[in-house]
Formats: sequence, structure tokens, C-alpha cells
Amino acid sequence: MNAINRLATVISLATLFPLVVHAAESKGTVEVVHWWTSGGEAKSVNVLKQIVEKDGFTWQDSAVAGGGGAAAMTVLKTRAISGNPPSAAQIKGPDIQEWGKLDLLTNVDDVAKANKWDSLLPQTVADIMKYDGHYVAVPVNIHRINWLWINPVVLKKAGVAKAPTTLEELYAAGDKLKAAGFVAIAHGGQPWQDTTVFEDLVLSIMGADGYKKALIDNDEEALTSSKMTEVFAALRKLQSYMDPDGTGQDWNIEAAKVISGKAGMQIMGDWVKSEWTAAGKNAGTDYECVPFPGSQGIYTYTIDSLVMFKLSKKNDTPGNNAARDDLAKVALEPEFQYVFNQNKGSIPVIKGLDMSKFDSCAQASAKDFAEAEKAGTLEPSMAFNMSTSQAVQGAIFDVVSNFMSDKKADPSKAGKQMYTAIKAAAQ
Ligand code: BGC
Repeated sequence: MNAINRLATVISLATLFPLVVHAAESKGTVEVVHWWTSGGEAKSVNVLKQIVEKDGFTWQDSAVAGGGGAAAMTVLKTRAISGNPPSAAQIKGPDIQEWGKLDLLTNVDDVAKANKWDSLLPQTVADIMKYDGHYVAVPVNIHRINWLWINPVVLKKAGVAKAPTTLEELYAAGDKLKAAGFVAIAHGGQPWQDTTVFEDLVLSIMGADGYKKALIDNDEEALTSSKMTEVFAALRKLQSYMDPDGTGQDWNIEAAKVISGKAGMQIMGDWVKSEWTAAGKNAGTDYECVPFPGSQGIYTYTIDSLVMFKLSKKNDTPGNNAARDDLAKVALEPEFQYVFNQNKGSIPVIKGLDMSKFDSCAQASAKDFAEAEKAGTLEPSMAFNMSTSQAVQGAIFDVVSNFMSDKKADPSKAGKQMYTAIKAAAQ
């Protein structure tokens, strides 16, 4: 090789090499704290990861197991306090305002403006995502809470002719399922799962207005009413149908019992559909979804959202900021909204998507959402962080789970205890 050729080789290597490195190199990293760790949930969040990676960014997954997210929140607080926040974290409802007050959040107004979020999102949803008038979070879905999930084959085997529509029918179905040797209600005895059932019973027994008074306004009269005594008595009754092996059990392990035909029913938000979908089962044939008995016409919701944190000095690079903006952008694009929500069991949060691509449960959810909105019976879920601060929610969780574990607890005293606990927590 002569000198000129040698020089040419060096030059071409020098120009080639950076190209090779660049192709493999990420444009920036977005770290996300979330609690989507069940089989179906992990599949769903993977959709977001793949899109972000396709855009050339690195997805750093910081999942913290634990349904309902209490464990994830503990990890997040520790990280925020020690000055090591992630780029984004799953935080919902009024808590977004609490984090905003701490001056730990950044906004994605540029992304929101460029992608017309104000017209894409329902006004109420947009308001929740803003702190001080700025978009600090991006919503990804709408989950309905007040559902009952049914394995129709199991119900048939037990001689239950149709899905229960009232509490009396629910008890009757429970009796038949138990008599036939099935677990009547698959249920994991964890505070947030107990409180899901409690919340549904409040809807069923006290109606939308009573729910609003008791669990949103935390009104003393509603919380200490005879109707609330009925709610706790019904909770005790339902407990007798719950899985005897459910103590401390995760929701998805319990869901697996309904899917496999060991149990007949489960009271859970529609993320449970992600497990059915991941198991290759179809809505309407393999499983049925009906509103929690007695709560027809009311729709309790939670909205998953990813809240954006100010990056630490070390991580505050143009690339990482671009990665966060990309996450915010893709989360509201139809491509993601369709695939993610089909996997997750929720319905899209952006307006105007074609619901015919979704299964019958999602279609029912979208229809019921619109009807409840019109009727004024669309209610934010207390158990899923949409109606209270975390402190008040924690107080309610404690009272409900103490009631569940103390079989001798008096239903007529529990409401008063709840009111006192809420007052103390709200101070
Ligand atoms: C979230 C869902 C999640 C569920 C179970 C809820 O708080 O909104 O997205 O699937 O918890 O972990």
C-alpha cells in the first residue's frame, strides 16, 4: 500500500468509525418509574418502550412491583428527596398538584402546543395534567374501576344462569359457586384491593351522590350515615365469598384463578383485562365484564399519567430532555393509544378514536363513560388516587383493611372511624 492509499484508508476509517458509533448510540435516555409489572401490564408498557427506542432514544425501565402503586410512590419519594429523580413517573390525580408545589416538576408545554393537546384531550383531563397552567404530565388512558369480571363457564357449571346485576344476585351467585366447590370471588387481601370493593359498595348502596359526599367531599353526615353501616355490613358479607387463600395475594395471581376456571368472579378495574388478553382469551366469549352489581349508570375512573421531573444536574443534557419530550409526544399519538389501550384494558384518553377496533368490554366502557358524563355520574375513583390526597386515601385504606382483618369489628362504628381518620390525615 503506497502512502496515498494508506492515507485514504485512514481517512475513510476515520469518517466511517464515527458513523458506526453514531448508528448504535442513543440520542438520549428517558427513565420511567411505573408499577406496570404483571404479565399483561408489562406487555402494554413495552409498546411505549418500543416506540421510544424506534425514535432512537434509550428507555430506562424503573418498574416497582405492587398493584395500585403504593410501593412505587415510596421509591419515588426517596429518589426525589435524595436529588435523583427519574425523567418521568406514573403519578395520578390531585397528587400531581402536590408534586408541583414541591417545585420538582418540569413542563412539556412545547410538545403540548405543537401537538395540540388542548383540543386532543377532554378539558377535565387536561386540567389534571397541568400545574399552574403548564402541562407537567401526559395522560395515557382511562381505566374504569366499577367492574365485575366473570368466567361464564364456571358460573354455568355452578348453576348460575346469568351475570348478577344486584347485590342480592351477587350473594346468590356466590352461594352457588361456593356450594359447587369454586372460589366464588377471586380477591387478594391487600388494602387497595379491599378498598376497591368498598368503593364499589359505596356506589351500589349510596349512589353517585352518596359516593360524592362520602368519598370526595368526605362529608361527616354521609360517612357516619346508616347507609355507610350498610356498606360495611355488605363488605363483611362479600368477604365470606372471597378466596380463602387470598391473604396478601397480588391481583394478577387472583385473576389467573378466574382465567383458569378455579374461581368464578373478580371485582377489579379493567387492567385485569390485560391478563385475560395476555392469556389469549376474548371478551364476550371467554370472559364477561359487567358493571359492579347495583352501580349501573355510574362510572368510576382513574387516569394513568406520566409526570415529568426536573432532571438532576448530571442528567440534564439536551439528549435526555429530547428523550422525555419524545415520550410525551408519542404517548398521545393514535398509534400508541390504540395498541397500548388494547393491551392494557383501558380506553384511549384522546378524543375521536375509532372504538370498533376495540373489544366489547372497551366498547361498553367508552359508551358508559359518555353516558355517565352526560348524566353527571362520572366519578373520580378514591381508591385509585383521583379524588383525594395520598394521605387521606391512606387513612381510608387503613380503616377498610382493619375492618377486613378484624372479623368482630362493628359495621356501625367503621364510618365514624373513617371520618376521624380522614380528619387527622387532612390536617
Ligand atoms: C393503575 C393501573 C394498574 C393498576 C394495577 C392502578 O393504580 O391505574 O394502570 O394496572 O393500578 O397495578
